[in-house]
Amino acid sequence: MSFSNNSNKILHPHFFHLSGIHPDLPVYEVLSVLESESYSHQHLKKSKQCLVLNCSEQGAYLAAERAAYCKRAVKILYKAAVSEKTITELADKITRKIDFENKMKNHKSYLVRVYRIGNAHSEFNSMDLEVAIGKKIWDKMKGTSKVDTKNPDINFVLLFTRDELLFGKEIYARKKGSFVSRRPDKRPYFKPGTLEPRFARMMVNLSRASSENLLLDPFCGPGGIILEATTMDCNVIGLDIDKRMIKGSLKNLKHFTPKTNYDLIIGDAKQMPFHNQINSIATDPPYGRSTSTYGKEIEELLRQFFKEAYNVLVPNGILAIGMFAKIPIQEIAKEFNFELSIFEKIYIHKSLTRRIGVFIKR
Ligand SMILES: C[S@@+](CC[C@H](N)C(=O)[O-])C[C@H]1O[C@@H](n2cnc3c(N)ncnc32)[C@H](O)[C@@H]1O
Repeated sequence: MSFSNNSNKILHPHFFHLSGIHPDLPVYEVLSVLESESYSHQHLKKSKQCLVLNCSEQGAYLAAERAAYCKRAVKILYKAAVSEKTITELADKITRKIDFENKMKNHKSYLVRVYRIGNAHSEFNSMDLEVAIGKKIWDKMKGTSKVDTKNPDINFVLLFTRDELLFGKEIYARKKGSFVSRRPDKRPYFKPGTLEPRFARMMVNLSRASSENLLLDPFCGPGGIILEATTMDCNVIGLDIDKRMIKGSLKNLKHFTPKTNYDLIIGDAKQMPFHNQINSIATDPPYGRSTSTYGKEIEELLRQFFKEAYNVLVPNGILAIGMFAKIPIQEIAKEFNFELSIFEKIYIHKSLTRRIGVFIKR
């Protein structure tokens, strides 16, 4: 996608259609990407699986492209509460005030897609509404642009949220299955306990990693997190106490992202060869089920790790950590002068809850 020179300066309302894995983490992920790349943004509204921000088109594109749990970003052209009774009335209301000739500019073809959160406004059949809006646009364009269902130049998207409809021009949409090729079972080196790529990418984003900065995973294992970070062009360091894991990570990185910048080190996360150098840490320490903790109790290991993380991070550096164990990481983090930014739980099943903490070195 190409952007005009001032596409990074003009702020405009955009909506981000999010995954439902958690009520807040996908929101934090989008915001973290914008912050990591210093894109200005203002929070306008959040509802189930939908975040509305004032931001630039370029910022919206980047955030949606990088955030694992974002399905699409759309520049809002119209929004309203829904009071209409018929599809024709609704299609007319949505399209009436939009200057499609201006929006279409050099685009010769378009497609309209309708999505909804849960069963919001299921009284309106999606396909019928897509056709009705498509026809209205065609009328307004006096036939100078046509519907293309396979490869349209521009996608118009309507999203029904619980309390309103949002309509606009799609800036970015994630392709279905875009993470499949990097699934753990498709990697040359695989060990149980490695993260699924979408989750790993969210951890990288929560750590506010950027292409300018240095990201470290000090418990890198077979490389789930560092692999995602290299696909985003981050400068990456992976460290693990187990030589086999470092060899395995190397195999995986060489296979998927051979041209990116990375260093792999056999070492101990309790005593690392850095000082005030690392901008972001994204990690998933051992949790005592399938991965070894080398004889240390996990809590003690984490205590020593937090102390060392403070030493290796630059001031205001970020530590994003995911874990299963019920360990009071907020208290440990506070003890070592980290400020809490985010703490959330994701319920996996009856006896398994993942905890995610994001902390800032102060
Ligand atoms: C849960 S795995 C990490 C999985 C990884 N995040 C992924 O997605 O592929 C934890 C790793 O921590 C490593 N480990 C355990 N104690 C360590 C220590 N003191 N320093 C560094 N690595 C350690 C283990 O060898 C194991 O590979």
